[in-house]
Amino acid sequence: MLLTVSKRVDFSASRRLFSPRLSLQENRSLFGQESTARHGTGRNYVAWFVFSGQPDATTGMLINISEIKERAGSVIDRGYDHRFLNEDNPAFSSVAPTSENIARQLLADVAPLFRDNAAQLTAVHLRETPERSATAYASGTTEANYWFEFSAARRTRSPRLSDAENQNLFGVSVHEHGHNYRARLTLKNEHASPEPLAANMRIISVLDSVRKQLDHKNLSRDVEALRDRPTTTESLARFLLECCRAELSTLARVRLHERDDFFAEAWGDGRMLLGMRESFSAAHRLQVASFSSEQNVELFGKCNNPRGHGHRYLTEATITGEYDRATGALFSFDQMRKAIDDALNPWRDKHLDLETPEFGSRPSTGENIVRALWPKLDAALQQQLVRLRLWETDNNRFTLRRS
Ligand code: NI
Repeated sequence: MLLTVSKRVDFSASRRLFSPRLSLQENRSLFGQESTARHGTGRNYVAWFVFSGQPDATTGMLINISEIKERAGSVIDRGYDHRFLNEDNPAFSSVAPTSENIARQLLADVAPLFRDNAAQLTAVHLRETPERSATAYASGTTEANYWFEFSAARRTRSPRLSDAENQNLFGVSVHEHGHNYRARLTLKNEHASPEPLAANMRIISVLDSVRKQLDHKNLSRDVEALRDRPTTTESLARFLLECCRAELSTLARVRLHERDDFFAEAWGDGRMLLGMRESFSAAHRLQVASFSSEQNVELFGKCNNPRGHGHRYLTEATITGEYDRATGALFSFDQMRKAIDDALNPWRDKHLDLETPEFGSRPSTGENIVRALWPKLDAALQQQLVRLRLWETDNNRFTLRRS
């Protein structure tokens, strides 16, 4: 199992997508209109710093999350926040401040500050708008994400099943209904080149043409290319991957959100994933029984309040499985929902330390909560769980992956 702890740090900056090594015309064809913004244009950035390692058995922590905020925050304050990146940060004097390059530079700036730490910075994820984000990994790989939206109607059914079988499998979803879909394309760059993976403008035009095929259509009726396919979210994610892969050779995977809390992913290597989110509210107190009260306050700060505090936790369970071409499904939506509810219900509206068996003798840190949840969920999901995420707040995320 691989455990990561991620901390979110926000900053605002201006930037110009422009490489001084290229001509005006080349910049224009690579970055579009924005390359002409000679005084920069603005973004409210969200950076996630992702650490991996082994949690301490006594404290239940992989890393003290407030240290991430302090050390990464000081790097951001010095060179990123409220700056014109091209002129105020020397890293971007010769390299365009694309999402990928900013993520890579943050990784390079922040990783050395944790060399003495048991947990190591393994990735930086940077979101610049709801449509664009990037991840830089310590391995050298960089990923660029492009999001787009479309609204469409559908009846969830497979043309390879009878009406009764469809009804049985998809329930009320066989009736005409609609979604505001959100799709994410992930392009992978293995060589850490500072140049864009492909011209921004070309990627956006590929996305536009795919979107036009689907937006404000009835997917069960109006789209010729979908006629013989199931209209499940899994099937649509595969369709998007097939459509875009011909045009974008570095496309690694496509995620399609049918709702905020439900998505399917189709990978270039044939893998498929299904993810579901669910929240629960609970109280807790971070405390190590064998430590003095001074030690506990020193370690956990206000999280050690003797009367407790609480969170509305958000979980995200992601499973893998065999895609069934007849049904177009990877796993039953209802079964997945039930497995998650059954695992979370005993914790709802409880004080985790005082009222649940899992945290009687170990601190209810985010690390320990995902580790306690994993076996319960995995058993109910037929050992198909591959990733489990827990947001304690919008700023603190804990992830367990099957290694
Ligand atoms: Ni807390």
